[in-house]
Amino acid sequence: MANLKERKEKVSRKLENIDNVIMVMSGKGGVGKTTVAVNLAVALALEGKKVGILDVDLHGPDVVRMLGGREAKVSAVGGEILPPEVHGIKVISISQFLDNDNDAVIWRGPLKTGAIMQFIGDVAWGKLDYLIIDAPPGTGDEPLTVFQNVEKIKGALIVTSPSIVSQDDVERAINFVIKMDKQVIGIVENMSYFICPNCKTKHFIFGEGGGSALAEKYNLELLAQIPLDSTVRENMDAGKPVAYFGTPEVTSSYVNLAKKVIEKVEAVS
Ligand SMILES: Nc1ncnc2c1ncn2[C@@H]1O[C@H](COP(=O)(O)OP(=O)(O)OP(=O)(O)O)[C@@H](O)[C@H]1O
Ligand SMILES: [Mg+2]
Repeated sequence: MANLKERKEKVSRKLENIDNVIMVMSGKGGVGKTTVAVNLAVALALEGKKVGILDVDLHGPDVVRMLGGREAKVSAVGGEILPPEVHGIKVISISQFLDNDNDAVIWRGPLKTGAIMQFIGDVAWGKLDYLIIDAPPGTGDEPLTVFQNVEKIKGALIVTSPSIVSQDDVERAINFVIKMDKQVIGIVENMSYFICPNCKTKHFIFGEGGGSALAEKYNLELLAQIPLDSTVRENMDAGKPVAYFGTPEVTSSYVNLAKKVIEKVEAVS
C-alpha cells in the first residue's frame, strides 16, 4: 500500500489538471449541502465549465442518486478509476463501489483519509475547470483530509438555513475553514422562502435573515438564497437536478450562484 507521502504526491499530480476545487460544507446536517453541491456542479456545467463532483460523505453518500447517475458505473483504465459522466459531470462516490445502496460501511479515521485520497489521486479526472466536493455535516475527518491534502483548494461554500437558531453549528464550520487557513468563498442560504403557489407571496417558513446575518458577522458574501420548494425534493429524489429540471425560480437561483462562484473564484486565480 502506498504510503501517505506517495499518496499526497499522487493527489498533487492529479490536481495539476484541476483548476478550481471547492468544498460544500456546513456544520449542520440536512440543510441542503448535497443538493447545493450537485446543482452548483450542474449549473457550472451549463455555464460551459468542465466539472467533476466528488462525494466525501462516506456514511451518507447521496450525490450519485441526486445527480441521477445510479445506472452509471465506474470502470478502470490503465490502473485508474474512470468516473462515469452524468449530465456531462464526472462523478465519484463510495456508493459506486457498494453492491447495495443501503450497505453500511464502517470507517475508522485513517481508512476515511485513505479512501478520500484515492478518490482524488487514483481517479482519471482528466482536465477539469471545477471539482466540487460534497462534505458530510460537521468538521470531521472528511473535510479535514481534503483541506490538509488539497493545498490548492480554493475554499469552501458554507450552506445554511435561514434560521438564526441553527447558526452556531454553521459558525463552527466557518471557523474551521478559517483555522485551516482556507477561504470561505461565500454563504448559500437554502430553503430561504416559500412562494405560495396561490397568492405568489413569499413566506419565510424557517425564519428570515440567517444567511445575511452570518455573512455580515464574518464579512462574507451571501451568494444565493434558494427557495424552499417541494419540487426540489421531488426532483432530487428522482435524480433530476433542479439547476436544470427545476422551476424557473429555483433554476435561476442556481444559475446565478454558478455565475457568482465563477466571478469570485476566477477573479483570484
Ligand atoms: N430548497 C429546497 N426545497 C425543498 N427541499 C429541499 C431544498 N433543498 C434541499 N431539499 C431537500 O432536503 C433534504 C436534505 O437535503 P440534502 O440531502 O441536500 O441535505 P444535506 O445537508 O446534504 O444533508 P446531510 O447532512 O444528511 O448530508 C433532501 O430531501 C432535499 O431534497
Ligand atoms: Mg449531504
